[in-house]
Amino acid sequence: MGNKDHLNEWKKELEELYMDLYHDRNAWNYFLQMLERNRSERKESLRRLDEAREQEGDWYQSNQLLGMMLYVQNFGGNLKAVQERLPYLTECGVNYLHLMPLLDSPQGKSDGGYAVSDFRKVRPKLGTMEDLEELADACHERGISLCLDFVLNHTSEDHAWAKAARTGDPIAMSRYFFYDNWEIPNLYEQTVPQVFPTTAPGNFTWLDDMKKVVMTSFYQYQWDLNYANPMVFNDMTDNLLFLANRGMDVIRLDAIPYIWKELWTTCRNLPQVHTLIRMMKLACQIVCPGVVLLGEVVMEPREVAPYFGTPHRPECDMLYNVTTMCTTWHTLATRDARLLRHQMEQVCRLPGNCFFQNYLRCHDDIGWGLDFPFLGQFGIREVDHKRYLNDWFTGKWEGSWSRGETYNDAAELGDARLCGTTASLTGIEAGLEELERTGDDTLLRRGITCDLMLHAWMFSQTGIPVIYSGDEVGQLNDYSYHQDPSHWSDSRYVHRGKFDFDLAGQRLEQGTVQQILFDGLMHMHFIRSSFDVFRPEASVYVYYTGDDRVMGILREYEGERFVGLFNFSETAADVELQGSQWTELLSGTGFAAPEGETSLKIHLEGYDFRWMLEGNAPD
Ligand code: GLC
Repeated sequence: MGNKDHLNEWKKELEELYMDLYHDRNAWNYFLQMLERNRSERKESLRRLDEAREQEGDWYQSNQLLGMMLYVQNFGGNLKAVQERLPYLTECGVNYLHLMPLLDSPQGKSDGGYAVSDFRKVRPKLGTMEDLEELADACHERGISLCLDFVLNHTSEDHAWAKAARTGDPIAMSRYFFYDNWEIPNLYEQTVPQVFPTTAPGNFTWLDDMKKVVMTSFYQYQWDLNYANPMVFNDMTDNLLFLANRGMDVIRLDAIPYIWKELWTTCRNLPQVHTLIRMMKLACQIVCPGVVLLGEVVMEPREVAPYFGTPHRPECDMLYNVTTMCTTWHTLATRDARLLRHQMEQVCRLPGNCFFQNYLRCHDDIGWGLDFPFLGQFGIREVDHKRYLNDWFTGKWEGSWSRGETYNDAAELGDARLCGTTASLTGIEAGLEELERTGDDTLLRRGITCDLMLHAWMFSQTGIPVIYSGDEVGQLNDYSYHQDPSHWSDSRYVHRGKFDFDLAGQRLEQGTVQQILFDGLMHMHFIRSSFDVFRPEASVYVYYTGDDRVMGILREYEGERFVGLFNFSETAADVELQGSQWTELLSGTGFAAPEGETSLKIHLEGYDFRWMLEGNAPD
């Protein structure tokens, strides 16, 4: 189907949504022209890719995909260096690469690149737009898809619109939320929660030069865009399509729940947000139908799924599986999989259009967006429990081997979040120290097992598993940010360290931590992409193990049955598995029930896991 038809196909719905929201015919006509222009500018190679992807359908759902997220500045320094290092990523099995924000953003006021001053320019230190396009081409040649952030809730105060607004230009000012005094901002503050209560308190900032207050939900230098103004929506969609036309395959829509503001509300998840995202999705379907939208919705569980839209009116193609991610860490700290089971039951019940990106951790903190009403039935209270989790993962709790740091620890809210690399949180950092101090490697071995178990759990779920760069070789926390004035108040930098290529080199030496982790993950990826039971169409259920310490997942596809067993505690457990013949996929070991019995016992050491496939060992 040619792209022309896509316009006819979607125009009616788009126009209705647009006019309902904006009632502005001129703005609509401008929007349509903008779409036409982007469509005509899309280069031939990308059009061919669109067509191939449309034929393939849901290309991003393949179980062959393995993702990695990384910062260009941490992985070689610039885009050209990343391009040179693509062979390493291929060796990692990576075919989906999320590059962290790389657009122009002022040094020291950048929020890790999430304060964009020019959506069409790469930060000069990292390269140019041409470098980015070249990298996208090189990735495509290797079968790697690229994902880039699109930060749409706000711009940097250094963006041309913000600068013009600062001079008093009324048109530019209408793109943001300005107030002459604190009267209305104070009313907003009554109902709007804070994103960064300690590092950037409040939702507004006083601009002394303008003698005005501007809305800043995130940092003071990130000015919220006013999407009630159709110019904002038109121009931001234009920017999104510009990036898609540079060869990005997946666009990560940053912080979407926040993009519509209304007094007397929380300014989160308002209905208009869904209209805006649906319109962006339609714009992509018209201009670049192969491009996928990944939504960042870090919200409580019930708020997340609506961002998929409905099967007939999809919004985001893919969302972060944020609730499963934080529930996984909760399970580790409590050795109790009841909440994880409950959470997975809900994920399993979602319709087929709901597809997640799975991860153990990302560049942000782990926020404890758990299902507290569910936990309440066991007497677990939110504030106390968050304190326990943070104490456990920062190693304060007696016996904890975890080495995280808290984030935005506002004592009065009791709402601190957590930072740290996977290896440091799972005990590898403490284990290495203990080995050095006492020569005993027990803790280290346990940490490695735990790290692998968590990854295996992630790989067992439907969705793209995304590894945080460095986790494949067990990179530890980077405490050097404490010495850097531009970062020291933001503990997320503890897990945003430079990729250590020397450390990665040790993956080639038998018996090193790096080799065990790297080969372990690669083997899981190989098995995951080779067996049909990992296909996205598989039916997935929670498998009841009869032991709350052990999480179980059941996958079924065309007569194949897979059970994944994960021991979230440091003590051994025995689990009964129904069926007389099973094979552990990673080791190839066969298991048979004793004569005359129809089930067998699987023994799991602390933090151990098994990937069991029913039947005889495959070759
Ligand atoms: C998203 C990003 C986070 C950033 C925020 C503001 O949540 O993941 O890193 O601070 O948006 O743009």
